[in-house]
Parts: sequence; structure tokens; C-alpha cells
Amino acid sequence: MKETARSDRLGGRAPERIVIGTDELAARVRVLGAEISDSYQASDHLLVLGILKGSFIFMADLVRAIRTPLQVDFLAVSSYGDATRSSGTVRLLYDPMPSLEGRAVLVVEDILDSGTTLQWLIPRLEARGASSVDICTLLHKRVASSTIEPRWIGFDAPNSFLVGYGLDHAEDFRHLPYIASL
Ligand code: IMP
Ligand code: MG
Repeated sequence: MKETARSDRLGGRAPERIVIGTDELAARVRVLGAEISDSYQASDHLLVLGILKGSFIFMADLVRAIRTPLQVDFLAVSSYGDATRSSGTVRLLYDPMPSLEGRAVLVVEDILDSGTTLQWLIPRLEARGASSVDICTLLHKRVASSTIEPRWIGFDAPNSFLVGYGLDHAEDFRHLPYIASL
């Protein structure tokens, strides 16, 4: 158990404990990038679709570890307010991709918790003509009720509230270069 730096203690709550360190994140992202590279060809017209905002750091590292030609876009959904529990409601806040005709889509998510977000989103992407829709999630909480099956998973996550490397609590802590629990 490592103490986090005093400078990280922003907002009302402070991260208590580093769960996944910077080097461990970097090593896993390299492996995921290699596996993803081997699974797509240039002719798949791969679109890597990050779910904002939580995926932004993972996404930036992951696409630089993928050798297959690809394009990048983002969607913004909101299923959480400032609470640390899911509200169960999903809203599409930003959606620049009306057609996905003939594209292999790789959805990049920060963390799969209840699965509410992806269960809502994936059928909507498939309905836009994607040739395939797969999921790469950095973290998976392995909540039993989730029927979503990501093709790539970075790490199994403890069932506590995690922040850093893109993940927030009420918009704080996204910039931390490691994953910590609150
Ligand atoms: P789900 O819809 O319950 O699977 O939740 C997915 C979304 O909830 C993620 O993309 C995150 O934005 C947020 N979320 C779930 N668990 C955590 C957590 O432990 N820390 C930060 N955000 C979380
Ligand atoms: Mg969030």
C-alpha cells in the first residue's frame, strides 16, 4: 500500500491507494496494442471509438501501440452524475458518427461496471452498419449482472471506486498517471 502524493489531493476526497501503477499500465497497453494489431487488417477500415471522457488517456496510449491503420473518433455518454454509483440512465451527449457503414469498430472504454453504458450503446452502433463492433475496456469490475463481453480487457478491477488515468470522481483526479482507489 503506497501513499499518494500530497499534490494529488484535490477536491473533497483524496485517492487512498495506488491500485495499478504507471509502469504496469504502460506494459499492459503495449500487449493490448499488439493483440489488437494482429486482429485487424487495413481492409477492415478500423475505427477506434473512445467513450469520453474517461477513455481519453487510455485511448491516446492504446492507439500509439496499434500498428494497423486506423481512424479515431469519440462519443460522449453520461451514465453517472457526481455520485459513485450508476444512475442507470444513459444519455448520448456528443455523437459525430452518423454512419459506420463497412467499418470495424473498436469501442474503447475506461471501465466496465454494471455494463449499462455499453449495453445501451453497442446495439446502436451495430444498427449504423458497422461490419463488427468489439470492446476494449481498460478495467473490468466483473459485476455479475453485466452481459457485455469485451474482446480485450486490460485489468480486472476491485469493486471499489477507482480514479486516475482518465477516470474521475466528480471530474477530479483524471490526470493522475496511475489508477487509485478512493
Ligand atoms: P457502467 O455503465 O455501470 O458499466 O459504468 C460505466 C461508466 O461508469 C464508466 O465509463 C465510468 O465513466 C463510470 N464508472 C464506473 N465505475 C467507475 C469507477 O470506479 N471510477 C470512475 N468511474 C466509474
Ligand atoms: Mg466517469
